Amino acid sequence: MATQPFRLGWFGNLTAPEWRDGWSEQDATGWTDGRFHVEMVQAMERAGFDFMMLEDSLMVPDIYAGTAELELKHAVYAPKLDPVPVVSMLAYATEHIGIVATASSTFYPPYLLARTFATLDHVTRGRVGWNVVTSSEDRAAQNFGMDEIPEHDKRYDVAAEFLDVTTKLWDSWDPDAIVADPVTGYYADHTRVNPIHHDGEYFSVRGPLNTPRGPQGKPVICQAGSSPRGRDFAAANADMLLTIPNGLEEMKKYRDDIRARAEKFGRDPDEIKVFFVVAPVVGRTDEIAAAKQEEFLSQKQRNYEFQMCNFAATMEIDFSVFDPDQPIPDDVTTNGHQGQFAIWKDMFGGRSIKDAASAMRIASLEMIGSPETIANTMEEAMDYVGGDGFMFLSQPPSRSYIADITEGLCPELARRGLIRTGFGHKTFRENLRAF
Ligand SMILES: Cc1cc2nc3c(=O)[nH]c(=O)nc-3n(C[C@H](O)[C@H](O)[C@H](O)COP(=O)(O)O)c2cc1C
Repeated sequence: MATQPFRLGWFGNLTAPEWRDGWSEQDATGWTDGRFHVEMVQAMERAGFDFMMLEDSLMVPDIYAGTAELELKHAVYAPKLDPVPVVSMLAYATEHIGIVATASSTFYPPYLLARTFATLDHVTRGRVGWNVVTSSEDRAAQNFGMDEIPEHDKRYDVAAEFLDVTTKLWDSWDPDAIVADPVTGYYADHTRVNPIHHDGEYFSVRGPLNTPRGPQGKPVICQAGSSPRGRDFAAANADMLLTIPNGLEEMKKYRDDIRARAEKFGRDPDEIKVFFVVAPVVGRTDEIAAAKQEEFLSQKQRNYEFQMCNFAATMEIDFSVFDPDQPIPDDVTTNGHQGQFAIWKDMFGGRSIKDAASAMRIASLEMIGSPETIANTMEEAMDYVGGDGFMFLSQPPSRSYIADITEGLCPELARRGLIRTGFGHKTFRENLRAF
């Protein structure tokens, strides 16, 4: 059995929380004021979570059957809020938990991004993370003056230079640049604030930043690449990784692979924490959890439509043109999330599109049961895989689901010494690396 504790995160969507059960009328439309997510992050901090991550995308998808109808019907990728400003609000309502915002290297100018995240590092007192994504949708590109999203590997080339530029900008203020010395009359020492004069293949940025160095120097870098190119980018740069390999074997393989790649880049693999996506169904007893799963499975058409939206948005594949009673055709490819598409195809196995999608939860392992049952599965999985943590995903979350995890499952994990019960450090990166 595992003796090492592991970490918990939540994959947060700034979209409508669960609204279909009729129990949450106020949240169904009121969530846009951010209060639902404030209460959510407070519950997570209390329960021993390391972070809440806020995903993002920059379009209203209309790929499935050439219309936004299903997307908006189910509120899957839209409507949503911009995660970046919401970080401030979540941070002000909490003390210790890390907050990760997604921002795209394909659309932000590096100076603006570096400035925004330096600002967030200050106002969160060193608790911000940046989920570096390259985006994957033509529909998003068309909102930024492009006809289509750049080719997959090229996006990573741009992202690598982008991260290099932003890192130089964060370093353009020495840690001791602010002297604030009434005797000499100097607030900041100009010899410790330097231009970067970056002139690269994709970006030309003079610097320095006009925002001083944040408590972490650089935000925690989060990444979710799963293609070979994406894994290299992540292994070279990331503090934490988000991933959904299918099953224990693939989880172990993925983590071992990332750690080997990190060593190849001269890094200590323990600096990188891998988070596996899970979506446990928790009940007071195994029987209650099984009944909840039955109810989920009974919503076949709703689940099917929801997953079709997922495929359409992130892969830009219109599944409406395929026969739903057949498996995914072999020759379907994507310029979107390539690694993820391969995994989803694997999850589908030989099943028909309709059968597989209508019963699908996006998760590395199926977990259905009481807190004790789920804690056993998590403990065994971490023991087998080697570490580092899990990230919960619920599309969409409800207050009762959040309570199942934070008030039901987490206390059981804490009793076993498997998750943190406090924070020993001030910054997100230090806490992440504490064990
Ligand atoms: C758990 C998880 C969360 C992700 N969150 C986002 C996101 O918020 N926004 C986004 O554009 N892409 C997101 N992605 C996509 C990744 O950034 C990446 O593009 C994708 O995993 C495909 O990687 P690949 O192109 O290397 O195969 C996420 C991926 C995973 C697995």
